[in-house]
Amino acid sequence: MNNIESRTEDAKEYFDATGLIPEHVAIIMDGNGRWAKKRQLKRSAGHKAGMDQVKTIAKHASKRGVKVLTLYAFSTENWKRPLNEVNYLMQLPVDFFSSFMPEIMEADIKVMMIGHPSDLPKKTRKVMEKAIEETKDNNGMVLNFAVNYGGRKEILDAVKEIAIMVEKGALKADKINEKVFEEHLMTSSLSEQQNVDLMIRTSGEERLSNFLLWQNAYSEFHFSSLLWPDFGEVDFDEALRIYQKRNRRFGGL
Ligand code: FPP
Repeated sequence: MNNIESRTEDAKEYFDATGLIPEHVAIIMDGNGRWAKKRQLKRSAGHKAGMDQVKTIAKHASKRGVKVLTLYAFSTENWKRPLNEVNYLMQLPVDFFSSFMPEIMEADIKVMMIGHPSDLPKKTRKVMEKAIEETKDNNGMVLNFAVNYGGRKEILDAVKEIAIMVEKGALKADKINEKVFEEHLMTSSLSEQQNVDLMIRTSGEERLSNFLLWQNAYSEFHFSSLLWPDFGEVDFDEALRIYQKRNRRFGGL
């Protein structure tokens, strides 16, 4: 957890000095389709507005001192959507990085990704790889995109890797513990911040939808009724304030 010293001057105005900023915030950005429908727009217009809100919230979270912001951009289940919507969603990272990269660099944000890049269209994969490469030496907030990500698959893949090590005699079964297991998850490179502190879902839905199943084991949940394109800086701050009032016990007293 961060303490006040590691926060920006700006954050001090808004937060109780003894309060804590969650180090790892994860967001299920839900409600783009409904946002568009309310305005009699195409679903793609909702996703475009959702992408613009990613820029706002990424800059804001970085300013607030969040260390890792993981955003659920595309799940392994989202391939079931109509092809034109899938195609639009796959184009979004291309548009996002072509317009937002100067601000990412300015804010010293480091881009990372979890998910399965090999199944993505080449243009989407390339643009993600390029953003990761260009920002690899940045030292600020990690902006971690979950693209073609599924929590159960992540856990099964980790189990398989560990099983192979045991089969080969490289690891003894009784040496498998949480730390060893976490080394095989896609979030392992987040090291200290691998587990989520605050999980936000917008649009009034209150479920996890296969998102960071292991990493959310002890996170605080915040469900907002706002649709993702309407979820702004003040709403993010409100989620932080609510988080600061929670008493995290991790199973203790
Ligand atoms: C869920 O809302 C949203 C998604 C499946 C896509 C989320 C993607 C973004 C917000 C943009 C990501 C940006 C980058 C740079 C990758 P929904 O469409 O299911 O909404 P609905 O439930 O109202 O239909």
